[in-house]
Amino acid sequence: MISKFTIQKINDEARVEDVVGEFVTLKKRGANLMGLCPFHNEKTPSFTVSPAKNIYKCFGCGKAGGPISFLTDSQQMTYPDALRFLAKKYNIEIEEENISDEAKQLEVEKHNLVESIHIANAAAQKFFSDYMTHNESGKIGLAYFKERGFLNHTIEKFQLGFAPEGYDVFTKHALKEGFQLEILKKAGLTSPKENSTIDFFRNRVMFPIHNMTGKVVGFGGRIMVKDEKAPKYVNTPESEVYLKSKILYGAYFARNDIRKKDECLMVEGYTDVISLHQAGIENAVASSGTSLTIDQIRLIKRITPNITMLYDGDAAGIKAALRGTDLILEEGMNVRVVVLPDSEDPDSYVKKTGADAFAQFIKENCKDVILFKASLFAAEAKNDPIKKSELIRDIIESIGKIPDTIHRSVYVKECSQLFDMNEQILITEVNKIRRKKAGDQKQEADKQQQQDQKKLDELPQSLHTEQFNETTSNLHILERDIVRILIEFGSWKIGEGETEITVVQYVLEELDGQHIETSKYKMLYELIKHEFAQGNVHDEKFFTANDDPRVTHTAIEILAQPYSLSDNWLNKLKIVVPTKRDVFIKDIASSIMRFKQFKNISELKKNEQRIKDSKDETELMKLMKLHKLLIEQKKEFARTVGNVIYRPTT
Ligand code: GTP
Ligand code: MN
Repeated sequence: MISKFTIQKINDEARVEDVVGEFVTLKKRGANLMGLCPFHNEKTPSFTVSPAKNIYKCFGCGKAGGPISFLTDSQQMTYPDALRFLAKKYNIEIEEENISDEAKQLEVEKHNLVESIHIANAAAQKFFSDYMTHNESGKIGLAYFKERGFLNHTIEKFQLGFAPEGYDVFTKHALKEGFQLEILKKAGLTSPKENSTIDFFRNRVMFPIHNMTGKVVGFGGRIMVKDEKAPKYVNTPESEVYLKSKILYGAYFARNDIRKKDECLMVEGYTDVISLHQAGIENAVASSGTSLTIDQIRLIKRITPNITMLYDGDAAGIKAALRGTDLILEEGMNVRVVVLPDSEDPDSYVKKTGADAFAQFIKENCKDVILFKASLFAAEAKNDPIKKSELIRDIIESIGKIPDTIHRSVYVKECSQLFDMNEQILITEVNKIRRKKAGDQKQEADKQQQQDQKKLDELPQSLHTEQFNETTSNLHILERDIVRILIEFGSWKIGEGETEITVVQYVLEELDGQHIETSKYKMLYELIKHEFAQGNVHDEKFFTANDDPRVTHTAIEILAQPYSLSDNWLNKLKIVVPTKRDVFIKDIASSIMRFKQFKNISELKKNEQRIKDSKDETELMKLMKLHKLLIEQKKEFARTVGNVIYRPTT
């Protein structure tokens, strides 16, 4: 284990800007550096690095920490790996402390197990291939592939093979080669059967499944004759190295062409991938018959944002299949669909038409998924109003998944035409879904923040307090921001129906009992409060063209001032247009939170002083009680600041 002394040294030496700078492009902005947040998806930078405080913080998602946590959280390094990485970077010699032999042993064993499974899989692949090409009884496998039109170089490239018919031909062979039965079982190549063991794959043609580094991690085995009782394919069970949800068949072979064409073709099966690759269409991968998982989608997203789904020409399955595309939309990716002609799959169709005609067909028939869905549904719902509303709801759900506002509005417009529906109604519905989503995400984020908080608690105390200073350094900026929101958006409405209120009401309620201290902002705040009590809510003009020159002056100053607090979300706020309501509500809430957080901390400090000074037993008890409460609040703020907080509508 790395010694405490070494960890201390690393903590002293590591510079957050150096470390983050290795992974994120940073630009100077005042005393800080800014870049695109590596923890969440964003187009405009919210991710701030403070060299002075040696911390980073994202004002979009709330992630914060120092050099080490950056590596563990954004680069998925383990804690020791992060320490080693930094030690190397800063030429710090690592001093090891004794760790228990038991722990060491466990780590070695885990490593060895994974390695052994890889070796077993590689050996199995070689065995199945050799058996198919060299063994008389394996030739039927080769004949099967040839019959399907696979050429020799394709068979070699995809390392296809054949698993013999006997009971345990492979297992016996592998044991003779020196493999341990335990490892063969863990690899999913051998299964227990009564008092003995049996080959997992028997009498099947074999499709090895490769991970992104080209290692064989599992197999799909296809039966050669039609058999109602036996499954067409059997797959390696989940193992230490084969996690079905994280693997896409063909991705290893397709990655370069996906990058080159900036598009990924998604097909259903092994043979579709292979036939397309053989035809020179090498950007195809397969989901293996199930709908895509988030891990699989992100695998592609790292290479391209464009996915084209190829569906077999049997309309029955399409509607269900389309449901699976919402998850891709949610990742902000572009999804297109192509439906192949009747009863064709990519494998059969590319063989029939050849590569050029196939590519041409895709080009001519690919449709944006939402528009495709909309036109499919529009036809279906033509004379059935109930059905129509159901189908529209379905499409609205999909549109609501799209993170980009402009994309959403384009779709809404198109759909309103297709379904002959009022656009405004559709917008309202989409926004409802967005709000609900924001609420769900808040819960998710809360959970995440709780975990982060736990991590934060384990960090050195100095970092801990700096994190608060970052957000609380300047009361008057926070106060200015509150007043700016009141002036700029005060008359806007949030919530809906009976719970709809103005921003003024919302902010005043939220800040009930809090005082604004900076005198010029206090003047405006009190004016707004006074007006509100009279039942008046004004827009910007009332303040910028007020009879009282002090009001006018300060209002203009506030609205014109470049924002210095967490620039990014304020910038975002500046470009807010009515359709960006979610952003706008989120930012108001976040302003209020920051303000309250500041108040909480200064209150805490004051109280701590009072506790120190107190000489009276009962007073001390009271102060301690208050202290506890304030600490609770402080924790609560640390969890929520930077997150979406919006007023529940019910
Ligand atoms: P061919 O019928 O040989 O052309 O194979 P295909 O890959 O086109 O198969 P199909 O279109 O029937 O199914 C698509 C994919 O779903 C396959 O590649 C498999 O990954 C998966 N699949 C199909 N049938 C089964 C099955 O019985 N069991 C399992 N586990 N997966 C299957
Ligand atoms: Mn097929």
